[in-house]
Amino acid sequence: MSTAATPVTVTVTGAAGQIAYSLLFRIAAGDAFGDRPVAFRLLEIPDARRAAEGVAMELSDSAFPLVDSITVTDDPDEGFAGADAVFLVGAKPRGKGEERSDLLIGNGKIFGPQGQAIARNASPDVRVLVVGNPANTNAAILDAHAGLAAGQVTAMTRLDHNRALAQLAEKLGTSTTRLTNMTVWGNHSSTQFPDVAELRLDGEPVAGSLEQTWVDEDFIPRVAQRGGEIIEVRGSSSAASAASSAVDHMHDWFNGTPQGDWVSVALRSDGSYGIPEGLFASFPCRSVDGRWEIVQGLELDERQQERIRTTADELASELDTVREAGML
Ligand code: NAD
Ligand code: LMR
Repeated sequence: MSTAATPVTVTVTGAAGQIAYSLLFRIAAGDAFGDRPVAFRLLEIPDARRAAEGVAMELSDSAFPLVDSITVTDDPDEGFAGADAVFLVGAKPRGKGEERSDLLIGNGKIFGPQGQAIARNASPDVRVLVVGNPANTNAAILDAHAGLAAGQVTAMTRLDHNRALAQLAEKLGTSTTRLTNMTVWGNHSSTQFPDVAELRLDGEPVAGSLEQTWVDEDFIPRVAQRGGEIIEVRGSSSAASAASSAVDHMHDWFNGTPQGDWVSVALRSDGSYGIPEGLFASFPCRSVDGRWEIVQGLELDERQQERIRTTADELASELDTVREAGML
């Protein structure tokens, strides 16, 4: 039984990278796991291990009261030992003009061996978040090798969810904190479906006040292509916002989602909403007693179903590609 004094063992891969440089410090500040001390396990490839040691030195120099220990390693068995929470960030980002699916073969290779190392070493009820792209299919590969229960392996669509809330808050002249019941369906890719049908402002339905042409022609493409827009403008892939969304995801997983609301999480489909079983798709999810549950009973019209089919078809084809490459 955990108490506030029991450290949570947290593995972060890609610890020398851009996202980790923000993520580690947010975790250390208590933003993901509250007042529980954190035993960090930072996993890198051998070439970047020294740089990860430098990041660990900075983490230590920050004198965060909640940092219990920091282990830096390039050995996956050591990296995942006893892990309660795993952030799989270590993977190549895309560059200008690339799609995330262009990373499928190169990055996919990372996740089979890491799944096996998690199976050998992590806590049996470990909670895993895949951030490295293409996140959904990497999570499917990892899941096939880790032998964990449905829902223990997730991929990140929380950044898309947060981007959607930010766009909607601007459009409605309000703050993101007053908006709830947003859903991102499907793949963390340009086929994703940010769906405002159930959106509420201060608990009241608000979708009717958004013009359909704005939703279809501005909002959905803007959110779905925001990652590419950041790469274009910033010159490299989103990092601090990705870290912040990863913190939000793990925070809600450990602490629960607010009453009446839900968030977007990609996990192994159980066939809900017609998304074929086994695909790692984003759904509206609530965190109940430390487990994600897909929100059931939402009514979908033909237009919504069509968009969900499109993004699910893309996930199925990504899975075919990695299956043919022998990664599943
Ligand atoms: P980065 O290149 O700055 O850092 C990646 C780090 O991962 C590097 O230090 C590299 O050495 C390390 N790495 C590579 N293979 C590894 C392995 N097998 N084990 C451990 N570490 C390994 O990249 P970044 O900007 O931090 O982005 C990381 C990934 O996150 C990219 O794939 C990017 O596309 C993805 N991303 C996803 C989202 C999302 O919403 N799901 C958002 C932003 C970025
Ligand atoms: C994002 O959405 O910002 C990340 O997935 C990075 C990318 O490649 O777009």
